[in-house]
Amino acid sequence: MRVSIAGLTLFPLVKATAFGATFGTTFDATDDTASARFSDFDWDAVEPKAELEYHDCYNEYKCARLEVPLDWKNESDTRRATIAIMKLPAVVGDDDPAFSGSVFTNPGGPGGSGVEFIPRIAHHLQKVMDKPGKKHYEIISFDPRGVGQSTPAADCYSGNILARQGTSLETRGTLGLGSSPESLAYNYALTKATNMRCSRADELVEESIFKYIGTPNVVRDMVEMVDQIDALRSKEAAARGQSWLELKKRNGDGDETPRLQYIGFSYGTVLGNYFASMYPGRVHRVVLDSVCDIEDYAHGPGWLTSLRYMDPLFDEFFKGCYEAGPEYCELVREDDASWTDISRRVWDYLVSLDESPLGLIGPNDVNAIVTGSDVRGLIGGMMYKPIKTFKLLAHVLDRSIDGEYEELVDMLAGSAIPNLETGCSAVDAPANKTTDLLNTRDVLYSVICQDGEDVTDKDLAYWHKYVKEMQGTSRLWGDVWATLRFACSTWPFEPNWKFNGPFTTPKADPALSEGKPSAPLLFLANRFDPVTPVTSARAMAHAHNGAQLIVFESMGHGVAGSAPSECLAKHLAEYMDTGKVPDEETTCEPECGPWSDVCETYRATSQTFSMDYLLSSASGRFPLMV
Ligand SMILES: *[C@@H]1O[C@H](CO)[C@@H](O)[C@H](O)[C@H]1NC(C)=O
Ligand SMILES: *[C@@H]1O[C@H](CO)[C@@H](O)[C@H](O)[C@H]1NC(C)=O
Repeated sequence: MRVSIAGLTLFPLVKATAFGATFGTTFDATDDTASARFSDFDWDAVEPKAELEYHDCYNEYKCARLEVPLDWKNESDTRRATIAIMKLPAVVGDDDPAFSGSVFTNPGGPGGSGVEFIPRIAHHLQKVMDKPGKKHYEIISFDPRGVGQSTPAADCYSGNILARQGTSLETRGTLGLGSSPESLAYNYALTKATNMRCSRADELVEESIFKYIGTPNVVRDMVEMVDQIDALRSKEAAARGQSWLELKKRNGDGDETPRLQYIGFSYGTVLGNYFASMYPGRVHRVVLDSVCDIEDYAHGPGWLTSLRYMDPLFDEFFKGCYEAGPEYCELVREDDASWTDISRRVWDYLVSLDESPLGLIGPNDVNAIVTGSDVRGLIGGMMYKPIKTFKLLAHVLDRSIDGEYEELVDMLAGSAIPNLETGCSAVDAPANKTTDLLNTRDVLYSVICQDGEDVTDKDLAYWHKYVKEMQGTSRLWGDVWATLRFACSTWPFEPNWKFNGPFTTPKADPALSEGKPSAPLLFLANRFDPVTPVTSARAMAHAHNGAQLIVFESMGHGVAGSAPSECLAKHLAEYMDTGKVPDEETTCEPECGPWSDVCETYRATSQTFSMDYLLSSASGRFPLMV
């Protein structure tokens, strides 16, 4: 059975070729993505092994299932988890002098699938990082434990998709955490019931992942992967009569202790920060793009700093719209005297939806009740990818304000409004290839609740204050963002492993001395990022010795996927090659912005939008994913 996500079919998406090697070029769903998502490669047929063994998969890729301890903290526990690994091989062989090892990547989430990410980004990363004839990398990722093709899956609903969608519908009906005290109380009970499902699912099976899913475990899995990759290369080199260590020395990474090369995005920066702080001696190169404030993530009430630039970015949308004029931005009216006129019109509309939601019939015959909270949710999601979405957003808002809702409802139907048809068919025939669509929330909350401070002792008054504070940080998305930590209010599991910091690394030593990174960390941030502000990136760069920040004068979540930039590509290739970061905080300019013709190839249409939207964070599946 080939599945279509939420009733959508795949659209061939434009592949941009306007520039040379640029980083930041939006990476879209490609044919490779479709192949990885829908092909018949059968992960179950691959026998999990404690040693790495690759199999051909999805045409040009290699896949493996690596067995690791379920509980790294308890040696007498013999239960195992299996990590699904996927890589794009380097363009040269392992014994080529230009072969430069593996670059790990993680798309964020928490809970994003590396197996789905590799086809989207691996070729792009190679193009940017490789120095032809000098440096060639393989790009590798994995489904973190509990996610996608890794087993056991974290699934609070034990496969009951209809029940899961029932919860989504019921949650929608509450109009969001911030709408009223009654709504907050109701959501508290809903969260409690859902979390009870997680406990029940945990008790049903022997190998349950919930307690063992926090970030320190994922970091330890990565150490294991790095070691196993090295062990396999040693074995293969020996079979050729060569020494892997000698081969490695040609590339400046001749350490007997294998080290990590990594580029992480969004929550992937949390993962990278934990890794570098827990195992600094295992760091070779670490690039972190769209950086989370790790203290806000791991300590205190949590997530309060994220939205600092959300509303300012929404203002940038209005400003850019006004400056671009009616030819580019449909929201502009002839008698507008400044961008604030447009802003006022849109906000008035959102408030009117809050006061009287629309009652419509959506695709697949579902009731489509459109609330202000839905539309704010959609807008916030679109702020993740301005270059793609700003023109479309202006179009859709303009139509809606004029009373034409079809496109708006189509977009919401892919995300906010559950498609019950898939739920019903899925009960009979669980579509194994779409596990990512099913248990994403469970992984997300399992990770963030266990990494963060325990908040299960907080009462409704506390949460009321928390939601208000969050709304104070962003009028657009505060109540959406508050749902993240709120889900931890009744989280039922004690984590097996917590790492409370310090989140720092000692000064780097290129001579590969023990316990020290061989290069400082490199941080990347957009000037206007809706959920990981540049201020967080700066704070994290300060916390790691010798680390440096490159600010991209662009918008959206993640420098990667924001706008093309040759400047960024150069910095990245140079860092990967030499391990050197710029002497001081520095900036790069994008080649184009959300309204300019130069970037026309990157624009989403309301048709292409849905597919890409679902693949990325913006659908609300993952708050911290590019
Ligand atoms: C460690 O694993 C053993 C064997 O499964 C189990 O009996 C014991 O309770 C575990 N210890 C902890 C602290 O979880
Ligand atoms: C899903 O996987 C299970 C177990 O491997 C299998 O029995 C079932 O037939 C699969 N379902 C589909 C739709 O492929």
